[in-house]
Amino acid sequence: MKKESLTERDLKHIWHPCSQMKDYEDFPMMHIASAEGPYLYTTDGKQLIDAISSWWCKSLGHRHPRIVASVKEQMDKYEHVIMANTCCEPLVELSEKLANLAPSLDRVFYSDNGSTAVEVAIKMSLQYNAQTGNSHKTSFLALKNGYHGETILTLAAGDCELYSSPYAPLMPKIPNIEIPYVTGEDDANWNLIPAKSWQAIETQLNEYKEHLSGIIFEPILQGAGGMKVYSPDLLKRLRKWSYENKVHLIADEIMTGFGRTGKMLACDHAGITPDFVCLSKGLTGGYTPMAVTLTSTEIYNAFYDDYATGKAFMHSNTYCGHALGVAAALAALKIYEDENIIANVAAKSCELRKRMEDIATETNALTNIRNIGYMVAADLINPDTGAKFASKERTGYKCYQKAVELGALLRPLGDTVYFLPPLNTPDSVLDNLANIAKDAIIAVTRQA
Ligand SMILES: Cc1ncc(COP(=O)(O)O)c(C=O)c1O
Repeated sequence: MKKESLTERDLKHIWHPCSQMKDYEDFPMMHIASAEGPYLYTTDGKQLIDAISSWWCKSLGHRHPRIVASVKEQMDKYEHVIMANTCCEPLVELSEKLANLAPSLDRVFYSDNGSTAVEVAIKMSLQYNAQTGNSHKTSFLALKNGYHGETILTLAAGDCELYSSPYAPLMPKIPNIEIPYVTGEDDANWNLIPAKSWQAIETQLNEYKEHLSGIIFEPILQGAGGMKVYSPDLLKRLRKWSYENKVHLIADEIMTGFGRTGKMLACDHAGITPDFVCLSKGLTGGYTPMAVTLTSTEIYNAFYDDYATGKAFMHSNTYCGHALGVAAALAALKIYEDENIIANVAAKSCELRKRMEDIATETNALTNIRNIGYMVAADLINPDTGAKFASKERTGYKCYQKAVELGALLRPLGDTVYFLPPLNTPDSVLDNLANIAKDAIIAVTRQA
């Protein structure tokens, strides 16, 4: 009997995430054998540049020897124990470091994925208000084009119908606010959003303020909603308005945190401290599932009382505070320090942008280039007409297929092509990535 291939065995059982499974009929999944630094290696010996840091989490690339060593060392002691009623030296050390990321956010709540970290913040905000005499504050606002995860509540907070529309009947209403975008730090509106835009936003905020518990947002860079960049001035204004109206700010830094935008936290561009910061992905360098929600002692204190008052925050996830994640996170934070990761990102951000600009010039098939830190994005257009492609043509998906053939894992969001590589990717690899992207875009858009 003929031996089944790995693809055949895969397709018999595995339901891949964020995929139309039928697509695998004519473009099978890659068979990964190993990964190192910015590269993935397939079982047939192909090398692929991980241009999207494996869903934005591999901030320090794959198999960083110091993270690997730290995880192995912890594995020899123990892998995981229940976090309720226990602690250990590494967990306390990590919490001390995380408590210093944002001034006054010195309380650290652990969970095991980004969506949950956002849900935790929403739940804490709601419960805080209920326990401090503000039980009428039960609603939330978010930003247009936001993305906050895949649970029902975080889909409701997000604004990506592609992922949420089938579940609309179960989703609570979380209205979103339209905001102005910029192309990056050199944009004329980077430092100041147009007065008219703020007036429109403030009008909407005022409309909801009476029952508003919190505003949820990805600071500076919105990811899954299309890699859109906005001004830190908006965050400053939101902070001022929310202080005045006693509304919480919930910063979802799951993708932006740990240096992606050229600062440790994207909120640092605005010099603001939100009431909650949600972190995951780069927290462990992308080595294990782990997330945290940071908040202030003032909020924590509203939950602190005799057990019988029922004020405790009773959320729990089996794997919160996972010891291997803690070991990875401690090593990752040390690497950030020792290897000057964030200063390098800030210094090299323009070079990453320049690579996309060159591709645009050479292909005539890209528009609306925007970037911040180690992310650059642009939208595909027909090189002959300058028009957008119809979404049914799946031009972005075709670019993904071609780029894989040529040696890079790009995963455009619709027709938005973007690079979001590990923060320590060598220049020569970025040059190769740019060449591959250019060739893929030419091959696909000239055929269209
Ligand atoms: C901004 C943001 N929030 C939340 C999430 C959800 O994180 P997770 O996939 O770990 O649940 C993501 C994932 O991409 C994200 O980019």
